[in-house]
Amino acid sequence: MESLLSTTTTSVPNSLALKSLLPSQPSIIPHSSIQLSNRTKTVRRSNFPSFLASLSKLPKGSANSSSNNNTKTNAVVDGSIAIVTGVPEVSWKDLQYPAGMLGAIPKRPEVIDERRQMEYLTNILSSKVYDVAIESPLELARKLSTQLGIQLWLKRDDSQFVFSFKIRGAYNMMANLPKEALERGVICASAGNHAQGVALAAGRLRTEAIIVMPRSTPPIKIEAVRSLGGNVLLHGDTFDDAQEHARQLSKERNLTIIPPFDNEDVIIGQGTVGMEIGRQMRGPLHAIFVPVGGGGLLAGVASFYKLVFPEVKIIGVEPNDANSMASALHNDQVVKLETVGTFADGVAVKQVGDENFRISRELIDGIVLVDKDAIAACIKDMFEDTRSILEPAGALSIAGAKAYCEYNNIKGVNIVAVTSGANMNFDQLGSIADNADSGNQTEATFATILPEKPGSLITFSDLMGSRSVTEFKYRFNSEKNAIVLYSVGVKVASELGEVKKKIESSPFETYDLTKNELVKDHLRYMMGGRSSVPNEVFYRFTLPERSGALLQFLDAFSPRWNISLIHYRRQGIISADVLVGLQIEGSEEAEFHESARKLGFGYVVVSNDPASKLLTQVV
Ligand SMILES: Cc1ncc(COP(=O)(O)O)c(C=O)c1O
Repeated sequence: MESLLSTTTTSVPNSLALKSLLPSQPSIIPHSSIQLSNRTKTVRRSNFPSFLASLSKLPKGSANSSSNNNTKTNAVVDGSIAIVTGVPEVSWKDLQYPAGMLGAIPKRPEVIDERRQMEYLTNILSSKVYDVAIESPLELARKLSTQLGIQLWLKRDDSQFVFSFKIRGAYNMMANLPKEALERGVICASAGNHAQGVALAAGRLRTEAIIVMPRSTPPIKIEAVRSLGGNVLLHGDTFDDAQEHARQLSKERNLTIIPPFDNEDVIIGQGTVGMEIGRQMRGPLHAIFVPVGGGGLLAGVASFYKLVFPEVKIIGVEPNDANSMASALHNDQVVKLETVGTFADGVAVKQVGDENFRISRELIDGIVLVDKDAIAACIKDMFEDTRSILEPAGALSIAGAKAYCEYNNIKGVNIVAVTSGANMNFDQLGSIADNADSGNQTEATFATILPEKPGSLITFSDLMGSRSVTEFKYRFNSEKNAIVLYSVGVKVASELGEVKKKIESSPFETYDLTKNELVKDHLRYMMGGRSSVPNEVFYRFTLPERSGALLQFLDAFSPRWNISLIHYRRQGIISADVLVGLQIEGSEEAEFHESARKLGFGYVVVSNDPASKLLTQVV
């Protein structure tokens, strides 16, 4: 806040004045004329290219209005000290549209505060982040560019000293604190990239940083923060406990809270990513794809780019099950998601920041949604192109850029994707590798029921021909048949249709399970065991990743009901996905739901999922 107010911009500068504010190498600014007169035009919805406006219409039935008046008092879940607000609560499922489509196109406010926009811009230009951050390279992704028929440039902020862009915002905020506040020290609650940013920034500014983390935080994250000089305080079982404790300590010890995204100086720090792209990019740029959690990076990049290069589209990218910015723009107000997917844990944020939303509404072009497989596929693409491994949130922008170009058939243009982080637990790589090929549509998974008679298996093998079978599980099921669960790989996505047609035209009953989440997360890892169990009902629970959670889960249902099956799979660092089979009679259902409600973990009934139906036969 201080930095914004301290800049005395009394009038909107003209284009000449603006040029003089730009970094000192005007020759490498690619766009020869920076016209402030265009700026006002571009921020008005009516001046958007009509093809983009038409893309904002969702296909029939795909997105019902998610506005509801289910207003509750909520706290931001990730990173920041709880901001208690009354905001409507919605489900991520309320707003879904095809991957790559530009949706959630903002409704521009009637009046735009240009002076404020200018203050952001000038503060980005004079930000102090280079005391700790590097100007990260802008690299061409050669393989992906050829594959997509565009020039895809990667803004490599995963190459910062702390392997993410978060150092920029944290440092900028702390460097702008009044001397006395800085000397008293800072505090934040985070188990992610923000924690490392705050710890490093505090070290450079010679002040103390307390980072409150839940007790279940993996040792690797704790060590990373400690090695940067951060004072780690483990508190509570959940992130919310840690957040509450940080808030209390900040009051007791008069420490400044450093929030991860909802702060003007944090946004300004992240905006330096945009400024660097402006300096580094040669030739006309079509769009910049930015990952979105709370919206700090998006708001920062837009605050620079839309003012200086208004013709360039600024597109946010979110996982389809963590679409908090898309939902806010769609509803034209900040909303809170009831639940968020945690695969890309860096962006698993239920509620975007107010200021981040305000800026996005004025400046960005829309949001692209992608699924977990598409993100996993891009981690693989990135590895093949650069031999670097990104964390899921870090690869989100590539997935968005790829889907957008494919969906809109865009060719021959320059596109930038901000690769924002590379902090991942090594053991998460296994599930990413499992999902990557189906995300790239180079692997399909099927289940086929084979009659138990001589020659069936041979006929089945003939069907496969010379195809590469990447996974094969055969299970004798009854006197009459057996079930085969298998995956087939192809070199290019276009071959997959042919494979599917051949398999589906066979005499055997076959299910295409390529997109089935239950199969991806559970069924493919479990063959064998008992077949039919009376009154068996299947549920999928999301458990917080903390010690004691599994025990608490088991205690809630056992021994009241017999547990017939459990498959537990960790998802990132925040949660675990549990498939459970329970023997529950119809008359006991209400009692079960009451116990599950008391337990407080999210769950869905999956007994009617085709994969569960197979499961009753396969397992
Ligand atoms: C790797 C990575 N990418 C993207 C984001 C999203 O940033 P923001 O919350 O500013 O939208 C984060 C947030 O921590 C992150 O760690």
